[in-house]
Amino acid sequence: MDVTDAVLRRKSIRAFLPTPVDDDVIAELLTKASRSPSGGNVQPWRIYVINGDSMARFRTFLADREMEPAAYEIYPQGLKEPYRTSRFQNGEDLYKTIGISREDKPARFAQFAKNYDFFGAPAAIFCFVDRQMGPPQWSDLGMFLQTFMLLAQEAGLDTCPQEAWAVYEQAVSEFVGAPEELRIFCGVAIGHADWDHPINTLVTAREPLEAFATFL
Ligand SMILES: Cc1cc2nc3c(=O)[nH]c(=O)nc-3n(C[C@H](O)[C@H](O)[C@H](O)COP(=O)(O)O)c2cc1C
Repeated sequence: MDVTDAVLRRKSIRAFLPTPVDDDVIAELLTKASRSPSGGNVQPWRIYVINGDSMARFRTFLADREMEPAAYEIYPQGLKEPYRTSRFQNGEDLYKTIGISREDKPARFAQFAKNYDFFGAPAAIFCFVDRQMGPPQWSDLGMFLQTFMLLAQEAGLDTCPQEAWAVYEQAVSEFVGAPEELRIFCGVAIGHADWDHPINTLVTAREPLEAFATFL
């Protein structure tokens, strides 16, 4: 698989098969992903892996926990156009794949809650960053994440990055043993896509080149 294939094939998967994933494979992906660039080679990513037994224990642990106020503002208040419409359309397109209407809030909520089961994935990583770090280092973390997800594609694995975990920072930190100085950014569900599930038919839209790039 070349880089273009990996970029074009990767998409967020929201229904996984229970097929296990080896820790060794995840370790290799993380090691390779650490070749990602970062300003000053600071390498601000801090990763916790849960898989197999630890995933089973995490699911039991989380069942007793309440959602917390979000650890950071996931979207800016009053998100502007055209970003607002992109976000709205994404939700509409997603729920349409599984026949949930805009009015059916309980069904939408139930689907959203599947984030907290990693959409059935057998493995996941949690990405943290030191509280001292600012936007440049968060951007480094984003590069690490995309590199990880592309390498996962190459290894025959599917992923879903999940900011939804921002409302469980305390719970996740406690479970994984993350020190107070670390802040959660996101989780990434890892596994094999259930291609029979209609939610995985979603192919998200993109703005045309002219909308985001200016050639001078
Ligand atoms: C940092 C990050 C966090 C995300 N958080 C979530 C999430 O919590 N739940 C979810 O279902 N999708 C989440 N997504 C997936 C986005 O909705 C998805 O990337 C976007 O709609 C584009 O679709 P694609 O990944 O299939 O290309 C996240 C993506 C990124 C990059």
